[in-house]
Amino acid sequence: MHTQIAKSIAEALNNELSVNEIQHLLEKPKKLDLGDVAFPCFILAKKLGKSPHSIASEIKDNISCEIVQDVQVVGGYVNIFYHQPMITKQVLSQIVKEKNLYGTKQEPKGNVVFDFSSPNIAKPFSMGHLRSTVIGNALANIAEKNGYKAIRINHLGDWGTQFGKLIVAYKNWGDRQKIEAAPIKELLKIYVQFHEEAEKDDALNEQARAAFKALEDGDEETFALWQWFRDASLVEFKTIYQLLGIEFDSFNGEAFYNDKMSAVVKELEEKQLLVKSDGAYVVELDNLPPCLITKTDGATLYATRDLAAAFYRKHRYEPKKIFYVVGNEQSLHFTQLFKVIEKMGYNWAIDLQHVPFGMILQEGKKMSTRKGKIVLLADVLKEAIATAKRNIDEKNPMLEKKDSIGHQVGVGAVIFNDLKNDRLHDIEFSIEHMMNFEGETGPYIQYTYARISSLLEKAEDNGNEVSCETLGEQAWPVILLLEQFPNVITNAFEQADPSQIAKYALQLARLFNKYYAQNKVLVDDNQRSSRLAFCQCVSIVLKESLALLGIEAPKNM
Ligand code: ARG
Repeated sequence: MHTQIAKSIAEALNNELSVNEIQHLLEKPKKLDLGDVAFPCFILAKKLGKSPHSIASEIKDNISCEIVQDVQVVGGYVNIFYHQPMITKQVLSQIVKEKNLYGTKQEPKGNVVFDFSSPNIAKPFSMGHLRSTVIGNALANIAEKNGYKAIRINHLGDWGTQFGKLIVAYKNWGDRQKIEAAPIKELLKIYVQFHEEAEKDDALNEQARAAFKALEDGDEETFALWQWFRDASLVEFKTIYQLLGIEFDSFNGEAFYNDKMSAVVKELEEKQLLVKSDGAYVVELDNLPPCLITKTDGATLYATRDLAAAFYRKHRYEPKKIFYVVGNEQSLHFTQLFKVIEKMGYNWAIDLQHVPFGMILQEGKKMSTRKGKIVLLADVLKEAIATAKRNIDEKNPMLEKKDSIGHQVGVGAVIFNDLKNDRLHDIEFSIEHMMNFEGETGPYIQYTYARISSLLEKAEDNGNEVSCETLGEQAWPVILLLEQFPNVITNAFEQADPSQIAKYALQLARLFNKYYAQNKVLVDDNQRSSRLAFCQCVSIVLKESLALLGIEAPKNM
């Protein structure tokens, strides 16, 4: 609608400003009685040599647009009132017709790769990895809504010097039976022990380096141990993905690139980008620390594997973009990575994007695995689900399928608590906060959806004939918001920002509840059908918003 308005203002101004420029200037008035959209004329005054007020009046006199019902001039502002009956009908009938496809971009736009979650093998799946997992999954859903095919890749941290440490630790203190019973817990224990012992005995570090080298060179015994650690860890990770309802197209982690790095190193050499530095090889970068490619002993690094991965993905998927959903503490790594690819002469380096996010803090500090002090995501999810079930037992003890609904609500609470925040902010981690079922939470939105669902069920009718006059007070702000949904989807993708969808869903739930507090829906005939259609549309968009975030919407709760 903004584009339509901008076009007619441009015409009214004899195209003194472009449609685009006008669109950027359009504002949302602070109060409803000042119209639905406002155009400030101040910056035009100088250009046209007239007062803002007279420009505004000129626009008022000349504007012609079918979706505009009224135009008022206040000071230097043109306040525009939409044609409510027409827009109400348009928006609601479109949603009724398209259902959950409302806002979906149909034209296929190609592949986009999302590298997300990517936990480290043999370490617990921490709350820290939760952010990457839920942000990445939501972004992939949003990309699909925007017409892309999303490729979800879990770049497992299953390679690197830490496996040398783990192998040495296992040989010294490992107990096969204990590890088989509780793999990640035991592996973490001996990993922590390695660090304690290595502080006293540096020889252990040397052994660990040698063990990793043996692994890279394909030593059979070492490889078999590594494979065992990896398989056992993956089984545990998959239970978490199942709880969250998240699937991946590929679990090709760092190890997958072990045999794909030499080609990249060779190309770097041929392009004369490799520089020897203290026996190691690096790529020098302007205004950045150099990117380390191989160590003195020839062992490769995290960055080397990421280079190989970027080339592999580029050729395998021909993606329009590759997103790396990884905490902001790795910003330097990704800046270096993209720069190296650019220096190699590949202009697709600009299609690589790091999507950083803040940390989850515990008592103001970053969580760390090494000290063994950590909150396990699996425990958090279980606690959230248990709390959700307790709430149901209190409020709605007769509810059917309590278990699965408790699951949907508990998990939804955890996911929403993360996604409602601006990505870059650090989040203080607090169970009470995310489980607060009133306020800005997932359960609040789920509850609103469930209320509408039971209303529609009771009515045994989804309504059809829509007329703005019969909807009642407070419906208009909801209609305006529904109209915005397709725009929100575009912006959330362009800015790689799922919080826009989360905030949108909160606002829609809030405005609807305000409406519902003032208007009865199951009333006499001519209003009833229209109001039911309105409710149905809100429920469709609420459900779809939650789905984009990776949250389910139970019909009862
Ligand atoms: N495993 C890494 C970590 O936990 C994250 C990997 C992110 N993806 C990548 N392509 N580097 O820190």
